[in-house]
Amino acid sequence: MTPSQVLAGTLLPAMAFLACVRPESWEPCVEVVPNITYDCMEQNLYKIPSSIPSSAKHLDLSFNPLMFLGSQSFTSFPELEVLDLSRCEIQKIEDDAYWGLHYLSTLILTGNPIKNLAPGAFSGLLSLQKLVAVEINLSSLENFPIGHLKTLKELNVAHNLVRSFKLPEYFSHLNNLEYLDLSNNKIQNIYHKDLHVLYNNSKLSLDLSLNPIDFIQPGAFDKMRLQGLTLRSNFDNTSVMKTCIQGLAGLEVNQLVLGEFKNERYVEEFDKSALQGLCTLTIEEFRLSYLDDFPKNINGLFNCLVNVSAVSLAHVYSRRLEGLPKDLKWQSLELVKCKVNQFPAFSIPSLKRYSFTANRGVNSFTDLTLKNLEFLDLSGNGMSFKGCCSVKDLETPNLKYLNLSFNDVISMSSNFMGLELLERLEFQHSTLKQTSQFSMFLSLSRLLYLDISYTHTHVAFHGIFSGLFSLQVLKMPGNSFKDNTLSNIFMEVTNLTLLDISECQLEHVSQGVFDKLLRLRVLNMSNNHFLLLDALSFKPLHTLQNLDCSSNRIASSNGQDLQHFPSNLTTLNLTQNPFDCSCEHQSFLQWIKDQRHLLVEAERLECAMPPDMQGKMLLSFRNATCQIPKVIIIVTVVSVLVVSVIACLVYKFYFHLMLLAGCKKYGQGENTYDAFVIYSSQDEDWVRNELVKNLEEGVPPFKLCLHYRDFIPGVAIAANIIQEGFHKSRKVIVVVSQHFIESRWCIFEYEIAQTWQFLSSRAGIIFIVLQKLEKSLLRQQVELYRLLSRNTYLEWEDHGLGRHIFWRRLRKALMDGKSWNPEEQQMQKTARKKQPL
Ligand SMILES: *[C@@H]1O[C@H](CO)[C@@H](O)[C@H](O)[C@H]1NC(C)=O
Ligand SMILES: *[C@@H]1O[C@H](CO)[C@@H](O)[C@H](O)[C@H]1NC(C)=O
Ligand SMILES: *[C@@H]1O[C@H](CO)[C@@H](O)[C@H](O)[C@H]1NC(C)=O
Ligand SMILES: *[C@@H]1O[C@H](CO)[C@@H](O)[C@H](O)[C@H]1NC(C)=O
Ligand SMILES: *[C@@H]1O[C@H](CO)[C@@H](O)[C@H](O)[C@H]1NC(C)=O
Ligand SMILES: *[C@@H]1O[C@H](CO)[C@@H](O)[C@H](O)[C@H]1NC(C)=O
Ligand SMILES: *[C@@H]1O[C@H](CO)[C@@H](O)[C@H](O)[C@H]1NC(C)=O
Ligand SMILES: *[C@@H]1O[C@H](CO)[C@@H](O)[C@H](O)[C@H]1NC(C)=O
Ligand SMILES: *[C@@H]1O[C@H](CO)[C@@H](O)[C@H](O)[C@H]1NC(C)=O
Ligand SMILES: *[C@@H]1O[C@H](CO)[C@@H](O)[C@H](O)[C@H]1NC(C)=O
Repeated sequence: MTPSQVLAGTLLPAMAFLACVRPESWEPCVEVVPNITYDCMEQNLYKIPSSIPSSAKHLDLSFNPLMFLGSQSFTSFPELEVLDLSRCEIQKIEDDAYWGLHYLSTLILTGNPIKNLAPGAFSGLLSLQKLVAVEINLSSLENFPIGHLKTLKELNVAHNLVRSFKLPEYFSHLNNLEYLDLSNNKIQNIYHKDLHVLYNNSKLSLDLSLNPIDFIQPGAFDKMRLQGLTLRSNFDNTSVMKTCIQGLAGLEVNQLVLGEFKNERYVEEFDKSALQGLCTLTIEEFRLSYLDDFPKNINGLFNCLVNVSAVSLAHVYSRRLEGLPKDLKWQSLELVKCKVNQFPAFSIPSLKRYSFTANRGVNSFTDLTLKNLEFLDLSGNGMSFKGCCSVKDLETPNLKYLNLSFNDVISMSSNFMGLELLERLEFQHSTLKQTSQFSMFLSLSRLLYLDISYTHTHVAFHGIFSGLFSLQVLKMPGNSFKDNTLSNIFMEVTNLTLLDISECQLEHVSQGVFDKLLRLRVLNMSNNHFLLLDALSFKPLHTLQNLDCSSNRIASSNGQDLQHFPSNLTTLNLTQNPFDCSCEHQSFLQWIKDQRHLLVEAERLECAMPPDMQGKMLLSFRNATCQIPKVIIIVTVVSVLVVSVIACLVYKFYFHLMLLAGCKKYGQGENTYDAFVIYSSQDEDWVRNELVKNLEEGVPPFKLCLHYRDFIPGVAIAANIIQEGFHKSRKVIVVVSQHFIESRWCIFEYEIAQTWQFLSSRAGIIFIVLQKLEKSLLRQQVELYRLLSRNTYLEWEDHGLGRHIFWRRLRKALMDGKSWNPEEQQMQKTARKKQPL
């Protein structure tokens, strides 16, 4: 083995392995539709790539140097429907080359210099409908082996070298043939016998353009019926044309096309008499195109065409189109891209359709009288209209369709009086004048379609669309509105299903604009200046399916209103808007994410704000990023609450706390007072005159703490109560009276006393009830009520014995715990037994 063989021995398996792991095995072809369509154009392939899936239906192999198609070249693609082999330098096609392609319907062989076409080359093509064999160096149809292709509908053998128009016998089997293109061949003569195989096929359209025909045997087409016959750029001069046309005598043809091609041979000095022979033909539709040298005077030109129903002239240059025969039966007339000096206001009573479009040389429209006209297309002429539109300008009372698009200035001078049958009306890209002065469409109650796109209309008048009760489609992009506000102009167009108000510089929508549009399905508001997706304004649009709000300045929407968004929406376009992805718009952003199934290109929506989100994908917005501040807020709120609750509690129980502190401080130490007296200031007289007198001046004397006397001035009264009152007293005397219960301050003092009693664990509160209490009032002080009803208390009696007993009992109670002298300690023991509390 030589070193190179060794190298090959190792490299080749490696390469084979690599070829296997290549992910796209159909390389170098392009997979257009997976498993269906493969494009292998211009890949320098020498053979048909085997890696393409056998399910492929469309295969483009054009511009590859295949050179040769052997037998059964395509058996690995049994599903193939379209096969393009254009310019593959194929010179030889063997028998059964397409074997197995049962479903192939289109085969393109254009531009192959085929020298050797085997007789069975096309066998097996059971479904072939279209065979394109343009420019394959075919010199005769005789040996072209297609006789068995019964399914063939279209055969294109243009641009070949065929000299004889003698259609071979096999054409009589091609019963489905509808189109035979023999243009650009070398056919000079047409004889009677050439066509006899076609006698039974009236479906056929025949194109013989660009053949240098100089002779057609008279009667060659006699009694024949054809769908179409095209003879363009066939004749050297008018006299040849004239005799050849005479040779067509007896033909019955649906569509006859005569004329030239741009930049091809053309007949100089076209003579009107050239068309004289057409009188012997039966023609439905006549077309003439590219005649530079059209006669100045067309008198008599169309004499043989009075009975056709449709005439079309394209690229015909004639100064004037006048002098048409009187008894024309034309129903449709089309003048496209012609050059004329004046608007041709024909008067053809039978005419139903008139298209005068994209013509040059006409500046202004003149009145038109066509009583039966239903369709009038005057678009693309750059004409101006001094008045539009009423039956005076257009005497076409049966008009249903009017297209005035792409013209110059159109002055609206009336409201379509007399043109009430109009159903479609189009003005796009013309300039409408005087649109704000009256309801210009008032008479058009049958109009279904109106297009005033890009007409420089400034909508300032609410009645602009009044009267359009049936209107279904309204297109008005590229106009403007007063104050850039969409105003209530749609009140009467209640049947509208499509509304296009894009590119109108709109910023606002007035309230209730869409209230009456209960059938609207498509609404286009794109390319405006809206700042907000105003869900509320769409609320009445229950039937809306498609909403386009792309290319606006929408940053967000009002979160709560989004629930009103039309529920039947299937498509929503919000692309090209500067979304604000800050947490403030969280609910809107979440809504967008929820609606992604209806959004167009949802995954490409971008945030424009805030700066740190700029350029990020809207769908990548995470609510979680907003939740952290939320947590902070919650924590803050909770802590503030807790702190305030604590503060309240501290405030409320401040004194109790002070008591607590005091208890620790003073402990069970010495007491300055025998009792701290709690009473209402209203009862002060009794306290001074009875209580103080009897206790402090009696024997033994008790020392009472009385705030009017013992509290230290300058110290807060509450602090005094606690420090002077409770902490330094052994007992507390509560003087209960009506005033006491009514006084909040007293009740407060009493509550502290209770706490004090609890904290110092002394049985120390002595109740004195001054007067009979009202039960209901007492009940409000639940605790006090309970105590009074459960325990003994001293009831003040202001006379004789009762008074004596009262003081005795009180003194006894106060003696409890008082270290005085042995005598008194004895008394204490007895008092303890009867003592309340
Ligand atoms: C293509 O065909 C293969 C095999 O028949 C199949 O596994 C695959 O799913 C198909 N792919 C598509 C996109 O249909
Ligand atoms: C076309 O066919 C003719 C003979 O019919 C031959 O002379 C000529 O070379 C062929 N042209 C091409 C490009 O093969
Ligand atoms: C046309 O059809 C008729 C009967 O349908 C038949 O007799 C005649 O031979 C056919 N002509 C040709 C040229 O096939
Ligand atoms: C028209 O063309 C034919 C054939 O090309 C020629 O024989 C004839 O003289 C021409 N006639 C005129 C009037 O030029
Ligand atoms: C047009 O039709 C009428 C009657 O239908 C006939 O008399 C007339 O000759 C026809 N004209 C042409 C040019 O065919
Ligand atoms: C009106 O004419 C314009 C320009 O030729 C064309 O684009 C448009 O489709 C026409 N309108 C209708 C409704 O056919
Ligand atoms: C509106 O449309 C409905 C259904 O298409 C139709 O029945 C009704 O007549 C229309 N109303 C008007 C005023 O044209
Ligand atoms: C809305 O109008 C714009 C042009 O302004 C156009 O590009 C777009 O396709 C329209 N949208 C729909 C849904 O028709
Ligand atoms: C919404 O759409 C459904 C199905 O397309 C239709 O049946 C229903 O009537 C629609 N609702 C409204 C309010 O138009
Ligand atoms: C918005 O999306 C719709 C649906 O895909 C499309 O028809 C329309 O053209 C889009 N609008 C623009 C302005 O591209």
